[in-house]
Amino acid sequence: MADLSPVRRLMKLVHPEGIPWPGSVLYNALSSSTIFMRHYELAAEDILSHCSQGTLLDIGTGPARLLLKLHQQSPGMRLVGIDSSAAMITQAKQNVAQAGLSEFIEVKEGSASSIPFPDQSFDIVVSTVSMHHWKQPEVCLNEIYRVLKDNSFALIYDIVSDTPKSTWNEIKREFGRLKATMFWLHSFEEPFYTRQNFEAIAQSSLFGKGRTQSFGLFCCLILKK
Ligand SMILES: C[S@@+](CC[C@H](N)C(=O)[O-])C[C@H]1O[C@@H](n2cnc3c(N)ncnc32)[C@H](O)[C@@H]1O
Repeated sequence: MADLSPVRRLMKLVHPEGIPWPGSVLYNALSSSTIFMRHYELAAEDILSHCSQGTLLDIGTGPARLLLKLHQQSPGMRLVGIDSSAAMITQAKQNVAQAGLSEFIEVKEGSASSIPFPDQSFDIVVSTVSMHHWKQPEVCLNEIYRVLKDNSFALIYDIVSDTPKSTWNEIKREFGRLKATMFWLHSFEEPFYTRQNFEAIAQSSLFGKGRTQSFGLFCCLILKK
């Protein structure tokens, strides 16, 4: 495990990994706001610049809004989402059905620490704002490595605790202080990692290394198998 503070270790021990009901309902509502949608858009653009065909897995898919965005931009891709919270999968299924996309987007319950798919199933694996919830991030990255095809990318987006102040100020100017704070609330149950933690976790996984890049408030851990 990367070098974490004692508070961080304690939080990891005591709180549940998946977001249960009614948090799932609240998060579903929040995730349709402009600040979230802008970040799904930024992530989707970046993802499709790495891989725009084949099969994609989104881990900790939550309400599946990233998958819906990806389908709009690349309708030929097969899109799959898993989430360890059954309540969140209910929200995801509702959103996918409301968009009339149930035949194109598959969402099911499953954990990053034991991904319910065979080895080398995916052309790309992605995740947004979920890694800071994972109790054993290295184990999860090893699972991602297992289900990823050779020469393929995993892109793990999250918010980092050392986001520069200038980035926060830009986001506050663009979306307003209230929405920026809503986004930061992701860290309420589980504190965020630093950029350095990200790289250390990648180093202790089967990927061996990873580099980071910023997109709005997202920091992306870029991993290549
Ligand atoms: C803050 S939400 C983000 C949801 C979505 N990716 C988004 O960007 O809106 C984090 C999600 O990760 C899920 N999660 C947490 N730990 C997980 C794990 N080990 N495996 C799969 N999903 C997990 C939670 O249930 C929750 O739905």
